[in-house]
Amino acid sequence: MKTLGIDIGSRNTKIVIFDQSQAQIAFKAWQATEINPSSAVDKLIQAAAPSQEIQDIASSCVTGYGRKMYKRADAIKSEIVCHAEACKYLFPEVRTVIDIGGQDSKIISLNEDGEIIDFVMNDKCAAGTGRFLEMTAIKLQCDLPKLSQLAAESDTDIPLNSTCVVFAESEIIGLLATGNSVPNIARAVHKSIARRIYAQMSPLQCQAPIVFTGGVAQSADLVYCLANLLNTELLIPDDPEITGALGAAILAK
Ligand SMILES: Nc1ncnc2c1ncn2[C@@H]1O[C@H](COP(=O)(O)OP(=O)(O)OP(=O)(O)O)[C@@H](O)[C@H]1O
Ligand SMILES: [Mg+2]
Repeated sequence: MKTLGIDIGSRNTKIVIFDQSQAQIAFKAWQATEINPSSAVDKLIQAAAPSQEIQDIASSCVTGYGRKMYKRADAIKSEIVCHAEACKYLFPEVRTVIDIGGQDSKIISLNEDGEIIDFVMNDKCAAGTGRFLEMTAIKLQCDLPKLSQLAAESDTDIPLNSTCVVFAESEIIGLLATGNSVPNIARAVHKSIARRIYAQMSPLQCQAPIVFTGGVAQSADLVYCLANLLNTELLIPDDPEITGALGAAILAK
């Protein structure tokens, strides 16, 4: 039996087809979320159409920011539940999930039986999210993978004090104007995001193993900064962007 998971994120829409009998991913794809979220989902399902997997889908589940606007799924689940479910499938020992997407960040705490015991979500401020990275990449004239590579070449710590992305943009322009190197600014941004996430985690009893997921987990330098601050290794899924859709597909049965 195959099930379909859909994650309509604020930036990207992802689908996963999960083979429940083999307990493995049969198909995955993503594209930018559109003004009409259903249209992005339709395009992804069309992309899956040539593959055998789409033929025998028994049920579907939708999650993500735009989940309530999509009416064709059999079930709707929250992103918290879906991310936790996928992380348990990928890393059965997981006790904490950090999901950083394009627009929000979430921390989920699980007990030793894998049950969700608490979570915090930040959807009001871009400072601890991919938006901050995207703004920085534009200012530093590079793409997101390059931003991580550049930050890894940093040789001097420089402070970045703004706690708001709008003010941080002015601060970055100022740092460039005063001769600070691009790698040092890129590292300062990653450290700032890491501090933000660390502070967000403080109300929870976060324990290792910690899984870092969402599109932002593709930044190796941010992973390095956050792991340093938390003083523990972070587990990263092979394809961290599709975690929410994977959880929705697992839960669709
Ligand atoms: N190589 C990369 N390095 C760092 N960040 C990246 C990279 N590639 C993508 N991202 C970030 O990941 C974001 C998309 O991640 P994701 O699909 O998890 O977000 P989303 O689910 O649409 O958003 P949200 O969960 O906030 O609604 C992009 O907007 C970008 O900021
Ligand atoms: Mg998301």
